[in-house]
Amino acid sequence: MPLLHKIPTGCKTLDEALKGGFAIGEVSLLYGEAETAKTTLAIQCAVSCAREGCKTFFMDCDGTFSGQRLSQIASKEADKVAELIILARPKTFQEQTLVIDQLANYITKGFGLVVVDTVTFLYRMEVAENPDSTFTLNRELNRQMALLAQTAKTQKVAVLVLSQVRSIFDEAFVDVEPVATRVLKFWANTIIAMKPTENPKVVKITIEKKEKMTKPFSCYAEISEKGLCEHL
Ligand SMILES: Nc1ncnc2c1ncn2[C@@H]1O[C@H](COP(=O)(O)OP(=O)(O)O)[C@@H](O)[C@H]1O
Ligand SMILES: [Mg+2]
Repeated sequence: MPLLHKIPTGCKTLDEALKGGFAIGEVSLLYGEAETAKTTLAIQCAVSCAREGCKTFFMDCDGTFSGQRLSQIASKEADKVAELIILARPKTFQEQTLVIDQLANYITKGFGLVVVDTVTFLYRMEVAENPDSTFTLNRELNRQMALLAQTAKTQKVAVLVLSQVRSIFDEAFVDVEPVATRVLKFWANTIIAMKPTENPKVVKITIEKKEKMTKPFSCYAEISEKGLCEHL
């Protein structure tokens, strides 16, 4: 088994800025509005991980993982790559809790990456149903992030946490969201924001936080059939 240190995202400019990709042993947070290629980028990471012969534990919490998208990105290697992606599909926030609690048992040997896509989807559903439990649910979200950070270190995997945020104009989520985002950011070693641009096929990627960063880094990337690529 080759020793992995970084998981390349497959997006050249971003990988250069990240000095090779997402680091093993750390939690990286990728957040942004819908359709900003968060899932696409996570699948690309799973593909690069598979190319190194390592498995990915992919938690598809919002039910958007697409085998078709994986085939497009992995191209000829799709079958080989698919074998190295273990999918978990929790349907409630409680199920998400169970999966994360058991994570260390699932990812035994040969794993390089854990993806949680998206960590706040089921949480948000639960908050909407039980607004009185918001405080407890928040604490649970925090506990899950702590467990993920611990797993990254002890199991020597990269953990990629995705979160969808609404536009600031969406009043209904004004209260819940900033709190959840603060929790996620607290645990993340690397924070990346994905923003839409006027061109629906182009997104702006901003690294808000990473080790030894002196100033924020931004670049643009293009969404194509092959995934999220460098924008020339
Ligand atoms: N198979 C595909 N071929 C081309 N574009 C796609 C494909 N699947 C998704 N996309 C596009 O990629 C963009 C990002 O999708 P996705 O990664 O699911 O975003 P997010 O996870 O941020 O909501 C969307 O605009 C979508 O239209
Ligand atoms: Mg998505």
